[in-house]
Amino acid sequence: RSIKSLTTSSSSHILRRGYASEAVPDRKVAVLGAAGGIGQPLALLMKLNPLVSSLALYDIANTPGVAADISHINTRSEVYGYSGEAELGKALEGADVVIIPAGVPRKPGMTRDDLFNINAGIVKGLCEAIAKHCPHALVNMISNPVNSTVPIAAEIFKKAGTYDPKRLFGVTTLDVVRAKTFYAGKGKVPVAEVNVPVVGGHAGITILPLFSQATPKANLSDAEITALTKRTQDGGTEVVEAKAGKGSATLSMAYAGAVFADACLKGLNGASDVVECSFVQSTVTELPFFASKVRLGKNGVEEVLGLGPLSDYEKEGLEKLKPELQSSIEKGIKFANQVV
Ligand code: NAI
Repeated sequence: RSIKSLTTSSSSHILRRGYASEAVPDRKVAVLGAAGGIGQPLALLMKLNPLVSSLALYDIANTPGVAADISHINTRSEVYGYSGEAELGKALEGADVVIIPAGVPRKPGMTRDDLFNINAGIVKGLCEAIAKHCPHALVNMISNPVNSTVPIAAEIFKKAGTYDPKRLFGVTTLDVVRAKTFYAGKGKVPVAEVNVPVVGGHAGITILPLFSQATPKANLSDAEITALTKRTQDGGTEVVEAKAGKGSATLSMAYAGAVFADACLKGLNGASDVVECSFVQSTVTELPFFASKVRLGKNGVEEVLGLGPLSDYEKEGLEKLKPELQSSIEKGIKFANQVV
């Protein structure tokens, strides 16, 4: 099909992003864990993204149905389903972006760290396959605990000799999405215009929204900022409790995952000034991995941006989160180097 028909067809108009006169390169996106609570709506959103030409949906089971279903949507990408480990290589081959929402989610009363034992092993296996089949892909890690699964991925890639810190991302976009929504609600500003950086990590107090840098400005009291910060940090738990044992955030996470993957694709395609927060290898603090604003480009991370001016409350939050984040990072590194 011609580029023109791709960008002017009525079915893609909702997500058209101003590429009408430019060539849209072929891009393959693989979703690992595609039959899950996040995986299915995320696959749907990636099918709606006109930057994607090939969509590979992988899970240990149930992918044929999801792939058949999604493949009937009349948008650009071809959809392929892969089921079971024997098909993982084919799913990954030639992928530009690999999104990983594979693994178990939280139940009420659980922390993200409680998922470590199961998800660490899943992430390890998937990253070994990525190193083998698509070592240059941008990896978007959604599986929790992100504070540990990203360091695990880095270690696995190092062992395979394929590690490129510019290509590994912990997806913290849901924290940003939540911070924007809650800030707009409290500050009575239009939600679509809101920007709030969220830094640190992706669990409890390691999630540090920087409301002092939020735009547009809203006149919020210290008490309101404290409440907003806590609500952002506990946003995941709010959903886990509301779902009462039926999982954690899936729909809002799929949206956030789709926003982040879209930013990665735009960066790969050479769009300018693509900036999103992400948990990446970093020298912004003394911790080896840290979430902050990141400029995305043709090679993945183009630039890890600094924190900017912090309020006293945020400075305090930053110091408080460091020991927990450090220990989650170390736990991931230790796991990856323990398992042979
Ligand atoms: P889910 O249980 O509904 O789906 C997980 C899927 O992963 C299942 O379809 C399962 O078959 C698949 N899976 C398990 N082992 C696999 C393997 N070795 N290879 C490929 N697929 C495999 O869980 P849900 O709700 O989709 O959550 C997935 C993960 O995302 C959890 O770890 C959860 O904690 C995390 N999460 C992360 C968020 C973030 O902001 N980064 C937000 C919400 C959830």
